[in-house]
Amino acid sequence: MSRKFHVYGNWKLHNNIAASRALADAVVSATADSRDRVVTGMAPVFTSLAAVRETVPAHPHLMVLGQNGYPAPKGAFTGEISFALLKDLGCDGVILGHSERRQIFHETDAFINEKVQAALATNLQVVFCVGETLEERESGRTWEVVGGQIDAVLPHVAADLRARLIVAYEPVWAIGTGRTATPAQAQEVHKQIRDRIAQLWDATAAAECIIQYGGSVKADNAAELFACPDIDGGLVGGAALDAAGFAKIIAAAAAIQR
Ligand code: PGA
Repeated sequence: MSRKFHVYGNWKLHNNIAASRALADAVVSATADSRDRVVTGMAPVFTSLAAVRETVPAHPHLMVLGQNGYPAPKGAFTGEISFALLKDLGCDGVILGHSERRQIFHETDAFINEKVQAALATNLQVVFCVGETLEERESGRTWEVVGGQIDAVLPHVAADLRARLIVAYEPVWAIGTGRTATPAQAQEVHKQIRDRIAQLWDATAAAECIIQYGGSVKADNAAELFACPDIDGGLVGGAALDAAGFAKIIAAAAAIQR
């Protein structure tokens, strides 16, 4: 089977409502030519989600995602947003386990696992992020760390929910640094992830699972990354804030024949 490319923009803490609406509108227009080949996603801040949902037409290849969520459906959790509320707003998916959540907000593998299971059970698509720090890579522990993050979550995903899980491999040292993993470095880890999925799930689920690369993806490096056999698109931060540049990344994916 051939996997479709999925290229999602993680807008992080950027853009007020008006700016989010304008960016979403520009992305939808600028990516129209690639619409049937590339699944395009946008993840704005919570306060812009409703505006972006209104702006982005309902289409199976246009995804609106939250950047976080809380596993409990309701209760005394001041400041939190449940996955059911994201769904209620019309969100298609949610990003979970991002390294900024792990590092700045001290989210553990166990907590991220709870979130992933709760989000999948709410019928949201989940972009589950994994990745090693520079120190971990330089001490030869990349797979120990990434494999551990995978093993904390994937064994717990019920067979009927697996198609909703995307894995995003994002080496921490490449995020927002301008330092991209080489295609060979990224492909090596993507292959290890896919092989591990085959062990934990099965060969068919592994062959179908979308594995995005993230970390300084730009218009000028997207094509060589996406040409790798196990890289199925990208999770894009900084370069997703400019519609024209983001559209070039999506066009790079659309140009690859699989
Ligand atoms: P970046 O961020 O593209 O700015 O490196 C990627 C991410 O954090 O998802």
